[in-house]
Amino acid sequence: MNVMVIGGGGREHAIIKKIKQSPKVDHIYALPGNGGIARDAECVPIGAEDLPAIVDFAKTHPVDFAVVAPDDPLVMGLVDLLQAEGIPCFGPNKRAAIIEGSKAFSKDLMKKYGIPTAEYETFTDMDQAMAYVETCAVPVVVKADGLAKGKGVLICETREAAIEAVKTMMEDKAFGESGATVVIEEFLEGPEVSVLSFTDGKTLIPMISSMDHKRALDGDKGLNTGGMGTIAPNPYYTPEVAEACEEEIFLPTMLAMNREGRSFSGCLYFGLMVTKDGPKVIEYNCRFGDPEAQVVLPLLESDLFDIMLHVADGTLADADVRFAEDEAACCVVMATKGYPGSYGKGYPLSIPDDLGTVYVAGAKKLEDGSLVSNGGRVLGVTERGKDLPEAIQKAYADISEISFPDGFYRKDIGQRALAALKEEE
Ligand code: AMP
Ligand code: GLY
Repeated sequence: MNVMVIGGGGREHAIIKKIKQSPKVDHIYALPGNGGIARDAECVPIGAEDLPAIVDFAKTHPVDFAVVAPDDPLVMGLVDLLQAEGIPCFGPNKRAAIIEGSKAFSKDLMKKYGIPTAEYETFTDMDQAMAYVETCAVPVVVKADGLAKGKGVLICETREAAIEAVKTMMEDKAFGESGATVVIEEFLEGPEVSVLSFTDGKTLIPMISSMDHKRALDGDKGLNTGGMGTIAPNPYYTPEVAEACEEEIFLPTMLAMNREGRSFSGCLYFGLMVTKDGPKVIEYNCRFGDPEAQVVLPLLESDLFDIMLHVADGTLADADVRFAEDEAACCVVMATKGYPGSYGKGYPLSIPDDLGTVYVAGAKKLEDGSLVSNGGRVLGVTERGKDLPEAIQKAYADISEISFPDGFYRKDIGQRALAALKEEE
């Protein structure tokens, strides 16, 4: 089959490398892909948010199946448009993608169906939001309702900071229309766990758990980013936590979406916090996490493309979904200096050929075949190991072989997980 994958980051590279292994896949188009993805797929220079051009491409090329990976085209309704042309897709339609597209929607869904999450209020009026902040305990969390590339969440230590945050979103419109509605929410404490799942609306199969490292700098300092590295599995996701999640969060969410007439098909991502009162939902995403996919998919032992076909036709219960549960993976992101603030592009990169797996997130290929940086997050250097210490050690050994003088990376990816494992002993 000929498969069209929408997106051009590290996550899409991980998806493409995995589906390429399937005997069912003949050819992969990546729209737009990137200079690294070009080794594994035919890149087509059409942006992931250019919906009419994507649909036109799919109609005029032999595309048998589409994988829509990023949040923006999902929330904008690309799956609906492709399905209307008879192209089966992996990914939720617009009605279901709202679970990520609107935090107000997802919070109301959780409240209505008793799914554990932080206490919250939603506001469209700035004065009311300000008045509410005056009554809140601090720290308090202020969130823009819509998509904001992982940056629309401000954790405020003081009321003054929270008032500033509300102003930034509602008056200065720092996140555009995404901040026209804000959610003000209770601050939760505890380790974070990401669990991606496959679901066709009838069956939900959780993937191996993972841990993101969202802050830019070592020791969880610095600004929030899209994610600076990941490990899997996450030691905080114990069998007891997993059981509570399946019973109180995962299945209830799938059923709630069905009840709302918004049945979800694709990868449903649960961003969880393991609090002293049990696991609670921090956020839902309607897609694979980035860089969570970069550690979860290498541990998948069965055929990703076959699973995607089953999800799309509503037969996930019959799919073979197996992970290397007793192994581990680590992905360390190399980003351009300055990220997540402003950064330049076009810096030279060199990656030896015989390294482990390097997922390319933001790089361009020059005519002479060399790679230059072309984004904030540039590479996801990933290794699988027999256990977490081995995966971490191998990923950092690979990093030391890569030359990217204008880049930086966190030196402590996986250290919190290692400390948790030591405590268990
Ligand atoms: P989100 O985009 O909703 O995942 O939020 C980004 C990050 O902000 C999360 O990964 C958490 O680290 C943090 N965060 C979000 N909501 C809360 C909360 N209610 N309490 C504590 N931290 C939070
Ligand atoms: N790594 C977090 C996300 O994909 O939303």
